[in-house]
Amino acid sequence: MFYEKLKWNKKYLNINYKKPSPLLDFIPNSNGKALDLGGGLGQNSEILLSKGYNVTLIDISDIAISKIKNPKIFKICLDLDNYTIEPNKFDVILKLKYFNFNLLKQIPKALKENGYFVFETIDKYQIDKDYFFELFKNFDIIHFNQKPFQFVGVKRGCN
Ligand SMILES: C[S@@+](CC[C@H](N)C(=O)[O-])C[C@H]1O[C@@H](n2cnc3c(N)ncnc32)[C@H](O)[C@@H]1O
Repeated sequence: MFYEKLKWNKKYLNINYKKPSPLLDFIPNSNGKALDLGGGLGQNSEILLSKGYNVTLIDISDIAISKIKNPKIFKICLDLDNYTIEPNKFDVILKLKYFNFNLLKQIPKALKENGYFVFETIDKYQIDKDYFFELFKNFDIIHFNQKPFQFVGVKRGCN
């Protein structure tokens, strides 16, 4: 969406750095594939790279993406509103402070078995805990916090 892109580009004009999420401490080292949805300036992608992952970051803001200097992060600038994630492809998916129900519903299928989902939403986006845990019923919970809503889980079996 044009205005969404404009809004985020405006925000990123004056922001060059954000702190990586401490939730990434739960993710083991691996040479697997990771996807950072709404990844912004790429600080969380950087941590996954340092853990050995092959990382793809997607974001609507070309300004944010232009500020990511590490050539090892595969960057895609697009609107995720109607995006379909390839099933059974990723070992880690990050969805940090970027809320999108359409994508949330796809995560269980998009992850490989034993894949990690790292999720945090900012308070203005309320999420129903029962709905969330029904969606992620085949996941082992590594970390959960209600406010802010945070979840780190590992997919077990099929979904
Ligand atoms: C609050 S920021 C979070 C960025 C990063 N995940 C972090 O934790 O720092 C939300 C991000 O989602 C991106 N975003 C918002 N709407 C989007 C959309 N429709 N498609 C793709 N990215 C979007 C913004 O550009 C922004 O980088």
